[in-house]
Amino acid sequence: MSREVVSGLEQVEFEALIEGLLNRQYGVSDHFLQPPILRGLQQNLFHHLNLGNMNPAGIGRKFDHKKNTLVRGDLIKWIENDSIDSFERLFLEKISRFISYLNETCYTGLNDLEFHYASYASGSFYKRHLDQFQSDKGRKFSLVLYLNADWKIEDGGHLTLYLDNGEEQNIFPNSGRLVFFRSDATEHEVHASFNRSRISIAGWLKCV
Ligand code: OGA
Ligand code: MN
Repeated sequence: MSREVVSGLEQVEFEALIEGLLNRQYGVSDHFLQPPILRGLQQNLFHHLNLGNMNPAGIGRKFDHKKNTLVRGDLIKWIENDSIDSFERLFLEKISRFISYLNETCYTGLNDLEFHYASYASGSFYKRHLDQFQSDKGRKFSLVLYLNADWKIEDGGHLTLYLDNGEEQNIFPNSGRLVFFRSDATEHEVHASFNRSRISIAGWLKCV
């Protein structure tokens, strides 16, 4: 991956994400992208949903729809890594700068990424799980960027992170919030939302 230039402000944000991960197993950034970019991504997602371009996500390698919906109920659409959509490019470019920063400061050796849009219809969830597959250890870090404008506590849909010390950390999926945690170590669960769908971009920083 090419070397990227990281600005001072961005460096502070990346440091905070990494420090969070090191000190308490997860990092959060509340303003990962500017509102116009978030709105662009949100519109892309709704566009895909309306066109019927989003499909039930799989679990592991085999896909069994019945079994699957007992575990997770989101619809997803993968983002092409060479997308020409300007909002997706701005998102992926920032993620690439984060990867470079991680590799330079933490020797993480990351060399790939994959991201998808996700929409959980009201009432759907993703049960407690780890993101790294047993058969494929490529996923090292998980990132989720939320796209829900004006999310309220009573809308539900929080993410629970199950930490090593037995604590459960609940994260509300406000627009612009990014969560960062280890794919092989941090079990987590998406709770059902109420009366509205819960939308995000979720993905992984990988070593392949
Ligand atoms: C996932 C996931 C968390 C979230 O897609 O694997 O756990 O908060 N997402 O949407
Ligand atoms: Mn997950």
